[in-house]
Amino acid sequence: MTSTSPSPSAPANRGVAFQDALQVAAEIAARSPSSHNCQPWGVGWTIGAGARRTATALLAETAERAGCGPAAQDEFEYLVLALDRARRLTALPAHGVEMLVSCGAYAEILLRALAAQGWRADGVRFVDPAGPVHGLRDADPDRIFGGRWPRAWVPLCVVRLAHAHTPGNELAELGDTVRARHTNRGPYRPDRIDPAALAGLSTAGSGLSLVRAAAGHDAEVTVRHMTDGAERAAVADLVRRHGGRDFSHRAAWRETHSFIRRDEADAETSGDGFTLGQLFGPMAPPRRLGMRIALAPATMRVLRHVGYHRLLARQLAAVVRCSPAAVALGFDDEAPGVESVVRGGAVLADYWLGATRAGLVLHPVSVILQHDDARAELEGLLGLPGRAFFVSRLGRAATQFPPSRRLAASRALRLV
Ligand SMILES: Cc1cc2nc3c(=O)[nH]c(=O)nc-3n(C[C@H](O)[C@H](O)[C@H](O)COP(=O)(O)O)c2cc1C
Repeated sequence: MTSTSPSPSAPANRGVAFQDALQVAAEIAARSPSSHNCQPWGVGWTIGAGARRTATALLAETAERAGCGPAAQDEFEYLVLALDRARRLTALPAHGVEMLVSCGAYAEILLRALAAQGWRADGVRFVDPAGPVHGLRDADPDRIFGGRWPRAWVPLCVVRLAHAHTPGNELAELGDTVRARHTNRGPYRPDRIDPAALAGLSTAGSGLSLVRAAAGHDAEVTVRHMTDGAERAAVADLVRRHGGRDFSHRAAWRETHSFIRRDEADAETSGDGFTLGQLFGPMAPPRRLGMRIALAPATMRVLRHVGYHRLLARQLAAVVRCSPAAVALGFDDEAPGVESVVRGGAVLADYWLGATRAGLVLHPVSVILQHDDARAELEGLLGLPGRAFFVSRLGRAATQFPPSRRLAASRALRLV
């Protein structure tokens, strides 16, 4: 765990136990999915008097509802989830949603791992980065958690944790599932997915989803599976028509390409992004070299004139068409705020972990959500009530994909 100077020390006893639990949870949560594997999250543990005062004030209402007096409040720990501006994707407006969804997925897994160690979230207060900071007069939203708060971090929500129960073996199970979850971009087995498994996944988020449970709200997310051939063909057709836009959009492709690592060693050094093997499956060195040249932004600018981006879109559409299912997650609201989007990320984590437990793998195809016209077509096609925020093919893996790298878990943690 790192802090900016002056280095504070964690409170004794309870603090030590929490610090250990937080480090274990952060190791697990570091394996959360994120767009381009950019890992745009941060978590501040409030140990300074000022930061704790702010966190307590933000959660005062929830504490009152729970009947907690000032003495009881001393027993709580507070975490502040943040978006790390230095790590976010910015090339497309839709990346804003993807970043918050990624942070929400991370928060969900982190809080589950803490709960499995006896630290249960019992209150969440969202801080709208663009709006006034509720209940805190004259506060600069970026600095309300004191001088140690990293300048690049935008606070999203404060979570209060209380030590609750003696944990069972949930932590080991959670760790196993999180490590087993990978994006699999290879071919899927054609066999039909058991409808009962899909029905179980459709209620994603209605079980233990701490970000939502702690906020006392129900899901505002619709989960929609597509197993019917005609529906899958329609989604594949959307991918065929729009899937080349990422490659032909200069800024978007330059940003995507900056996350492609030369080889495993390069990926390990950077701790983020993906290799060509993770994107396209294992390949012989000559093909890898050819792909590296073809995908370089300078080459792509030339190749798009001969329709190379359309060829890549057709290939992606073909794998979507051949997959036994696809899934879309949508907010019930057409213009969800920060809170809904972060909680949508928690539902996504819940869904993806549930799918992993059911032996299923996912391969998101976000390109059809990243442009408003394509997204509107998808929403119309599926009859979604509001804004779609995640779409993926779904099936049983025919080949294993190597796991992608991660930054050190401690990179995301700060004492504030
Ligand atoms: C919101 C979101 C959108 C994503 N969109 C895509 C996508 O369009 N294409 C893709 O191949 N992977 C996509 N991914 C998967 C990430 O690239 C992947 O999670 C990341 O590289 C880490 O790899 P892992 O999931 O195997 O751990 C997305 C993930 C998230 C959370």
